Amino acid sequence: MQSVTTQIHDDVLEILVNNPPVNALSWHVRQGLSDGIEEALGNDAVKAVVLRCDGRTFIAGADITEFGKPPQGPDFNAVLNMFETAGKPIVAAIHGTALGGGLETAMVCHYRVAVPSAKLGVPEVKLGLLPGAGGTQRLPRIVGVEQAAIMCALGVPISAKKALETGLVDSIASEDSLAEDAIAFARQMIAEGPRPSRDRPITGDTAIIDELKAKNARRWKGFEAPYANLACVEAATRLPFDEGMKFERAEFTKLMGGSQSAAQRHMFFAERQAAKIDGLPKDTPLRDIKKVGVIGAGTMGGGISMNFLAAGIPVTIVEMAKENLDRGVGVIRKNYENSAKKGRFTTEKVEAMMGLLTPSLSMDDLADCDLVIEAVYESMDVKKEVFGALDKIVKQGAILASNTSYLNVDEIAASTSRPGDVLGMHFFSPANVMKLLEVVRGEKTADDALATAMAIGKKIGKVAVVAGVCHGFIGNRMLSERQQPAIQLLMEGATPQQIDDVHTDFGMPMGPFQMSDLAGLDIGWHRDPSKIETIREALCAAGRFGQKNGKGFYDYDEKRQRTVSEEALAIIEDFRSKSNLPKREITDQEIIERTLYPMVNEGYKILEEGKAQRASDIDVVWIYGYGWPVYRGGPMFWGDLEGAGKIVEALERHNIDVADSLKAKA
Ligand code: 3HC
Repeated sequence: MQSVTTQIHDDVLEILVNNPPVNALSWHVRQGLSDGIEEALGNDAVKAVVLRCDGRTFIAGADITEFGKPPQGPDFNAVLNMFETAGKPIVAAIHGTALGGGLETAMVCHYRVAVPSAKLGVPEVKLGLLPGAGGTQRLPRIVGVEQAAIMCALGVPISAKKALETGLVDSIASEDSLAEDAIAFARQMIAEGPRPSRDRPITGDTAIIDELKAKNARRWKGFEAPYANLACVEAATRLPFDEGMKFERAEFTKLMGGSQSAAQRHMFFAERQAAKIDGLPKDTPLRDIKKVGVIGAGTMGGGISMNFLAAGIPVTIVEMAKENLDRGVGVIRKNYENSAKKGRFTTEKVEAMMGLLTPSLSMDDLADCDLVIEAVYESMDVKKEVFGALDKIVKQGAILASNTSYLNVDEIAASTSRPGDVLGMHFFSPANVMKLLEVVRGEKTADDALATAMAIGKKIGKVAVVAGVCHGFIGNRMLSERQQPAIQLLMEGATPQQIDDVHTDFGMPMGPFQMSDLAGLDIGWHRDPSKIETIREALCAAGRFGQKNGKGFYDYDEKRQRTVSEEALAIIEDFRSKSNLPKREITDQEIIERTLYPMVNEGYKILEEGKAQRASDIDVVWIYGYGWPVYRGGPMFWGDLEGAGKIVEALERHNIDVADSLKAKA
């Protein structure tokens, strides 16, 4: 396999990598790089070397698909060593993204030239790893401890401009003449000679390391990789280069062999896989979406609109009452202004986005929209009425989407004369923040409508997943498998806090009862305090509605911090004691077996019924929609780690109906 070629330009040898799509460091690339350096060293006429890449980007990292497989081709560190110790100056010519092993390769080149649009970074932490080919040791020697610690621990790439300021690149080339500029630069460096990064002194203060840990304590809870990255940068400041490399290797090996990185690498591919629609060619024609309509200016409708406005797509938002419309538009403006205050964008941008919003009190104003998303009250009758009306108003060829979180999209579609144009677009609250979008494919949804909804999801920054029609689709269907047994566990003697703590210790942002309090306990409540058939009704009867009025399963202070509520516990105990169920000690393991295993089980049922395209899509739903800890790779990946046999045994012990495919796997 020939993915690296060389070309002589008088006294400069150009090594050119061509390994689409992202020039990852597959074994044959490493081989080609090694051969290229040997050629440069063996030819006396060559005085300097340029390393450049063809296609859309400089090397974007190690080839992740090779991880966990038997090694093939030359060792990466050995190749890098050849570059760094070569007696002729080497210049990396960077465009696109120099990431991970790509930046590590650039850092063993003695000089770096980049185009203004290039980005440089070490995103390994996002894969549960660290730059394990000298990145943590060379970066601090080039940019100083502070910048290196930030780049390694956060994994966010920097711009070429910032790279120039920090010394990561030496010169900015022109966007359309990188090859020539890099060769010219290399010629200038012949007199300077090679400049190995390993020999450069380290500057900067290690105080940044503790600062980063303190600042990110919440965000990094449960994660191993950010800490390992910082430990390596710290080691670089006190160990000689070779010792530092050994330290880095040991930390890298630990992460690579652990379950967190396996989970995060799984998610990298899962996220990209989710965009693919089975049975639909990649080049399925898309419908043009120039203008979007949103019905409902409440929390959901407003949040949904914000996504499109931020992507520069005009939105007409419709409400029935003027007061509600004004309030909804006011909330959108306030949210944007708050973001501007935090420096996320300028006030001009706020005005530009608000300028794209047309508030209206009439559905007739949706006539020329290319996509209309309905976010009204969750009732089949109401939805049918809205879709019946849309059918008469909106132009032909438009996509009509429902933001329903549970209802049957086929039934909604049947209330129109064009079910092929109808689908679900289920956003997650807060809709302008949460990354997940479930695109619900109805029985009659047209292929191009589906492909367009998936594409527009990507355009507005969501991770879109195809779901089939069933109660609650993928996410909420699995959620109820967690919420119901959680209530039952209260009946048997567990406390809300015990159950929630098991979930937050597991890495979820909140447990089942915190979530109920957040959503509001009175949603769907019959409002008759004398009629008490569930714990929830008992709490509502006592005026405990959740976070909204400061008391639900917990008490809340002004900052919405929860504390155990003696009153709520007494209400639960009173209700429980009337049930004649014996009270007993519930272990944390039982909570896992009865609230998390059933979710995995439901995931298998969803797959059996074809309501999700693949197991990894389910993982994407839970990570981006519900905050399942990414280092556990989503419920399906986690289920595999736990072991199907163990899960089936536990589910059967608790008399839970086990999915056939899960049994088969066990
Ligand atoms: N290895 C293998 N395949 C990769 C890859 C990699 N490092 N990076 C991307 N790909 C694949 C993707 O899976 C995708 O494949 P598909 O088309 O079959 O789905 C294809 O390349 C295109 O990727 P994207 O869809 O993500 O394209 P974008 O243009 O949106 O983004 C990118 C390009 C910014 C390079 C993005 O792909 C990315 O962030 N890649 C990962 C970068 C990374 O994490 N590098 C570090 C790797 S670990 C490492 O280097 C260890 C070292 O320190 C020892």
